[in-house]
Amino acid sequence: MGQSSSVVILAAGRGTRMKNDRPKVLHEMAGRTLIGHVLATARALGPEKLVVVLGRDMAPVAAEIGSRAPESAIVVQDPPMGTGHALQVAAPELADRGAVLVLYGDTPLLTEATLRSLLERRQVADAAVAVLGMRPPDPGGYGRLRMGEAGELLAIVEHKHCDPALLAEGFCNSGVMALAGERVPALLGELERHPGSEEYYLTDVVEIAQRHGWSCRAVEASWIEGQGVNTQAQLAEVAAHFQSRRRAELMAAGVIMEAPETVFLAADTVIGPGAVIEPFVVFGPGVRVAAEAVIHGHSHLAGAEVGPRAEIGPFARLRPGTVIGEQAKLGNFVEAKNTTLGPGAKAGHLTYLGDCAVGAGANIGAGTITCNYDGFNKHRTVIGEGAFIGSNTAFVAPVTVGADAIVGAGSVVTSDVPAEALGLTRPPQRTLDGAARRLRERLSRQKSGGKG
Ligand code: UD1
Ligand code: CA
Repeated sequence: MGQSSSVVILAAGRGTRMKNDRPKVLHEMAGRTLIGHVLATARALGPEKLVVVLGRDMAPVAAEIGSRAPESAIVVQDPPMGTGHALQVAAPELADRGAVLVLYGDTPLLTEATLRSLLERRQVADAAVAVLGMRPPDPGGYGRLRMGEAGELLAIVEHKHCDPALLAEGFCNSGVMALAGERVPALLGELERHPGSEEYYLTDVVEIAQRHGWSCRAVEASWIEGQGVNTQAQLAEVAAHFQSRRRAELMAAGVIMEAPETVFLAADTVIGPGAVIEPFVVFGPGVRVAAEAVIHGHSHLAGAEVGPRAEIGPFARLRPGTVIGEQAKLGNFVEAKNTTLGPGAKAGHLTYLGDCAVGAGANIGAGTITCNYDGFNKHRTVIGEGAFIGSNTAFVAPVTVGADAIVGAGSVVTSDVPAEALGLTRPPQRTLDGAARRLRERLSRQKSGGKG
């Protein structure tokens, strides 16, 4: 990453203000955990070492880190004695040289660009410490940055130790900090327990640097990026910002959304230019939509791929493992799971396709259901190219329908239908002339008390 060789993510705090049993950093935003967002940004910087500081009993968090960023080193801080102590615990894992970037596990909106500019600023100024500052509209309990005449950073003062003048300036510590690697041992070595608390404050490194005659800098970022999550309400706020950012990025890249505020994206949603996303569409993780596809309103997609000019919904549900081919169509009230729909294939209405492969140009009639689960195992249904499936067909999987075959409406298909064959399982129709009239007369007599 050029100017930084180590990224340390502090996440030993328990997050008690989230008021539930889930570790704070495992709360999700846009289909990804908070720590997952921070890890993704950290990795984008390409550090030599990625270190995460956790508290004790955080196995689920460690598992998430292992799956998102297996190269990272996890260190346990037990008991947690402040942000400065957290970095001390991480110190043995740091790269031998280069800058050290400190992030928080609960601050997920920071962008790679902002972090790179902080690192660059530190390097250019040859500063011992560069801190990311912000000016939130409601600066509340944040630590404050005390700046000098020449724009240098003199100190970070915790809210409770601030004088009114410093509070009034409203320039806050986001917590993000870049440190000169060669200064880190001295800076951390001189941290002391903060008077009146049991904690070592990482923020004290600024004053320690001053004592050595080493300069410090602050870089101002948008307060939105520096926003941390401490409560459920803040999680929702941060998630809303993330959504607006992603919607704007997609629209800038040519995606068409008439009511973007009603579209919910996942962090990894990929949508090609010219695709139309109608109102009230929800994307879970792992979705790719190709150029010029149309996702009609109220559809829900997760783990699915939609091909060019395909059409989905309204009210469609695409579940993981679903691949929709070019110009294929999956209409209203259709659910697909682990299913491929070949190019130009259609399932227009009220259908469930599970563990199914539909060939190119096939047509699936309304109300078709794949019976893919027998209570123990899942089984596949294969429908050949150009096949025509009549309405209200049930496929009792495993079963295969050949290319260009036809299945009659209302069939319960339990064995294979070869190519070009007509499969028909419904009983032949009986028509009894006048029987409806006679039945009505009999029922009417019964109701009025007469004998049948
Ligand atoms: C800290 C800063 C404050 C800043 C604010 C920004 C200090 C002393 N204060 O305050 O200036 O405005 O963040 O949000 O640094 N953590 C550990 N181990 C610990 C303590 C904390 O890993 O022993 C982690 C937490 O999990 C969290 C982060 O460090 O991710 C910040 O800790 P928190 O207790 O929220 O710090 P604040 O008091 O908010
Ligand atoms: Ca905090």
